[in-house]
Amino acid sequence: MVFSSRNQTLLSKIATNDQHGENSPYFDGWKAYDLDPFHPTENPNGVIQMGLAENQLSPDLIQKWIAKNPKASICTKDGADSFKDIANFQDYHGLYDFRKAIADFMGRVRGNRVKFDPDRIVMGGGATGASESLMFCLADRDDGFLVPTPYYPAFDRDLRWRTGAQIVPIICKSSNDFQITQEALESAYENAIEANIKVKGLIIANPSNPLGTTMDKETLKTLLRFINEKKIHLVCDEIYAATVFDTPDFISISEVLQEMEHDPTVLINPELVHIIYSLSKDMGLPGFRVGILYSYNDGVVSSARKMSSFGLISSQTQHFLASLLSDEAFVEDFLTENSRRLSKRHKVFTQGLEQDGITCLPSNAGLFVWMDLRRLLKEPTFDEEMVLWRLIINDVKLNVSPGSSFHCEEAGWFRVCFANMDDLTVEIALERIHAFVRKGKENEVMAMKNKKNKVWQKNLRLSFSSRILYDEKTLMSPMSPHSPFPQSPLVQAKT
Ligand SMILES: Cc1ncc(COP(=O)(O)O)c(C=O)c1O
Repeated sequence: MVFSSRNQTLLSKIATNDQHGENSPYFDGWKAYDLDPFHPTENPNGVIQMGLAENQLSPDLIQKWIAKNPKASICTKDGADSFKDIANFQDYHGLYDFRKAIADFMGRVRGNRVKFDPDRIVMGGGATGASESLMFCLADRDDGFLVPTPYYPAFDRDLRWRTGAQIVPIICKSSNDFQITQEALESAYENAIEANIKVKGLIIANPSNPLGTTMDKETLKTLLRFINEKKIHLVCDEIYAATVFDTPDFISISEVLQEMEHDPTVLINPELVHIIYSLSKDMGLPGFRVGILYSYNDGVVSSARKMSSFGLISSQTQHFLASLLSDEAFVEDFLTENSRRLSKRHKVFTQGLEQDGITCLPSNAGLFVWMDLRRLLKEPTFDEEMVLWRLIINDVKLNVSPGSSFHCEEAGWFRVCFANMDDLTVEIALERIHAFVRKGKENEVMAMKNKKNKVWQKNLRLSFSSRILYDEKTLMSPMSPHSPFPQSPLVQAKT
């Protein structure tokens, strides 16, 4: 104990500050999963991971392509001829073929309505690395960036932790489906000024994590006008650009920028606009760490490229992806089939929830839904949200992420990921939710009877009162006898 606190003083402020955000419930949920991970046969009562925004629905399509294209990898008999050249390559501009393939892919994902220049593609270690490099280019310590809430929790790490920049929330509300308004933008800007924070930019994720929604053209125009007027940067994280499975279509900031170039009423400075992209979601390749910064600003491209030495994409990965993404027929089929699968999974999951009277924010994109459990809270507070979250983790054994970890202003929202598991696991998760709700209703009936008998007089505020399960015992024992769900019949069938 003494040693560890002494050790803290030997480390840097960056290493020991708590800006990484690892102590939030978002990461706690992952820890709960790590301690007791669900497995259909080996640990059927374990925690199901629904806190991980990964697309595991389409790797078979890439595997098939690999089998047909062994030359794409330098680690096969057919591809080994390129081994020496590729293994030696270390230019931080990246392989031209890779940058060209990525630029074309980014255009294809945006319906070929806009073109990207391979010379503006800068590499990063995932969107994570690309975002941080961009922050190092745009911000000095303590400079502020406006970010609409709710937002991706790791922005706290990626944008702030090592750069020292600050995030100023733009408060978005459920009353208009969390859309950004001009008033909310202005008010966040004013708040920053009052707090003596120099605002350097506005950062959005479109499609949104955690909302799973896309921004319409008017909103994007409003953002462009706003940043142009204030002379600040606009960073658009478009990591889910192709993870759109329903109408309306995704509209990239690049398209709106292109359209506004011809607008005589307002002259937008393109040098203020930067896009973050990655193949982690759209191609389901988070392990490849392919992050891209695309900037319309020559100075940013040049500095970010120098910085990219700290997070380059391995030449082997670049070489492989140059082949894969240049196969237009494959890309076309992959994108179509992947969104079909996502759409199907989204439907199965949201319809399953609806059967229990649980609704989500209507969404057309992303790997998650934004689930509305506000009516399960005894009071609309974040303490109550945590009580419910612990119940879901410990008793229902689902790792979902509470809205507070996304800096949501309203308690009772949860992000639930649906694409990082197979069909059977989704069925089991839904079965657990059904059982939880069923048990809640049974308890409600019991409680009503008791109330009639004057045993229960007060505190029955919830109409949907699984809340009644919230006794201390239930919260404390992970699989208590009070567990609201009996072992799923699906699990029994499997074991
Ligand atoms: C909005 C957003 N940006 C960035 C990232 C990080 O992506 P990467 O794995 O490419 O670093 C994620 C991952 O969940 C994300 O949702």
